[in-house]
Amino acid sequence: MSLLQLDQVRKNFGTVEALRGVTFAIDAGSVVGLVGDNGAGKSTLMKCITGIYRADGGTIEFNGAPIHEAEPGDIRKRGVEMIYQDLALAPQQDVASNIFLGREPTKGLFGAIDKAKVEAEAETMIRRLGARIPSVRYQVGQLSGGQQQSVAIARALTFEPKLVIMDEPTAALAVREVDHVLDLIRELKRQGIAVILISHRLTDVFAVSDRIVALRQGQVIADEITNETSMNAVVAHIVGAG
Ligand SMILES: Nc1ncnc2c1ncn2[C@@H]1O[C@H](COP(=O)(O)OP(=O)(O)OP(=O)(O)O)[C@@H](O)[C@H]1O
Ligand SMILES: [Mg+2]
Repeated sequence: MSLLQLDQVRKNFGTVEALRGVTFAIDAGSVVGLVGDNGAGKSTLMKCITGIYRADGGTIEFNGAPIHEAEPGDIRKRGVEMIYQDLALAPQQDVASNIFLGREPTKGLFGAIDKAKVEAEAETMIRRLGARIPSVRYQVGQLSGGQQQSVAIARALTFEPKLVIMDEPTAALAVREVDHVLDLIRELKRQGIAVILISHRLTDVFAVSDRIVALRQGQVIADEITNETSMNAVVAHIVGAG
């Protein structure tokens, strides 16, 4: 049984058919690269999985249960986390606070935030991930793009996900930071967490994925094992030449 199974998922925005019957599956602990041109439907598809959008047709099963009519909070509880391109972090707050944003452990009668506990648990998360963050007391806004991406991933881990969806995590990063984020994706896989990596950077997709799913105009145009395809073949799928 697959961890995630999409069957004939459809989504329209008025007269725009953003998704026209998308079918594919993801196994537990596997990394799938989701590729496709601008407007192919990648983000829309992911928002249907996380419950931000309700699909207009088709079914989505996660861990054996249908989720296509579930609410985002319920889908998160079942183990689906999405890291958006803007990361949704609070730049003026420190790393520890960002990891627990709004869910900090409290103490005492008035529910004051237990800062020591927040920092200790944040440290644990960072260590579990092997992220290169000098201190959980650093302000997130002062960290590099790659370090901020690490904080977003550590935050996602606090929800104990079975699947993490990442939308363009390496797009804005310096070259040496890209490698670190790719290492973090490998670490998630090693911990048995499945990853959907949306990226226009095919070298990154080839470096970490087990499979590559290509979308074109709201349909799956190719679904291939990474080791059995090539950069040229995937580019041809994306632009519609193959
Ligand atoms: N909220 C919306 N309202 C109307 N149309 C939308 C909306 N969101 C997406 N679309 C349309 O649906 C189609 C798919 O868009 P989507 O954002 O899913 O593409 P994408 O593959 O994520 O592209 P990109 O690589 O540029 O992020 C496009 O034609 C887009 O214009
Ligand atoms: Mg998108």
